[in-house]
Parts: sequence; C-alpha cells; structure tokens
Amino acid sequence: MSVRPGALEPVLDAARAARANAYAPYSHYRVGAALLTRPGRIYAGCNVENATYGATSCAERSAVAAMVAAGDRAPVACVVVTAGPAPGAPCGICRQVLAEFARDMKLVLVAEDDRGNVIARRTARLAALLPQAFRLPGPRR
Ligand code: THU
Repeated sequence: MSVRPGALEPVLDAARAARANAYAPYSHYRVGAALLTRPGRIYAGCNVENATYGATSCAERSAVAAMVAAGDRAPVACVVVTAGPAPGAPCGICRQVLAEFARDMKLVLVAEDDRGNVIARRTARLAALLPQAFRLPGPRR
C-alpha cells in the first residue's frame, strides 16, 4: 500500500513527541517511533532502557505494542526519529517484530539536532531491510 507523503507529517510529529519522553539514561540515545496504520491511525513509542540493558525496549517495539493494545494490526509506515549525524535504522529484532504485522511497509528514518531540526532523512522498505523474515509454517493467525 502506498502512503501519501503528506500523511506522514503527523506521524513524524508523533514520533518526535514520543522521543521527547524516551527513557535512555544509559545510552543517552533517544529514539521515537510512530506507526501509521491502514485505517489512518497513529501509534507512537519510545525506547525504554533498563538497568539490565537486555530488558530494554526499542522505540519501534513500543509503538507496535501500543498499536496492538489498541486493536489495530495493519501498519503501512513507520517513522523513526533519532539523533544524528545519520538516521538510525531499526535493529534486527524490531525488523522482525514489524514484519509480524506487515511483510512490507515504508520506513522513514529521520535524524534531528538538539533543537529539533531535521538534519538527515532517508526512506527504506522493510522488505528490503529484512528479506526472508522468519514465518512459522501453517495457517495465518
Ligand atoms: N534503539 C531503538 O529504540 N531502536 C532501534 O531500532 C535501535 C536501538 C534504542 C535501544 C537503546 O535504548 C538505544 O537505542 C541504544 O541502543
């Protein structure tokens, strides 16, 4: 499904707002993510770090949890906002978690400076970043 470019502006705003709430006392690398779904809804999340490190949740997975909790399961785009200089790409676990709900979607990866100005932006497709995502054989849930 193609996404009208203007439809992503409020998604970027939501990712930015979530990033402002990121809990990243260990890495200081704040991440905000927001999903746009087929019905036109937006779900945001931020990274939530943990003293064990391993229990940290990435922003993308936080956004997926918000989407599922709201009863929506059809993401068509994901915007991720990080610090620069280059935008961050979703980690491998997040790629697989996103792929659980859509084989492909548009990814918009944005880096901002401390004042909230966009300093770099790139787009990608989930199917290109995670070819051959794992799928359990058998009927679809
Ligand atoms: N992080 C994300 O939120 N999303 C990613 O795709 C990669 C990494 C977070 C996890 C951790 O809080 C911080 O960035 C540094 O790894």
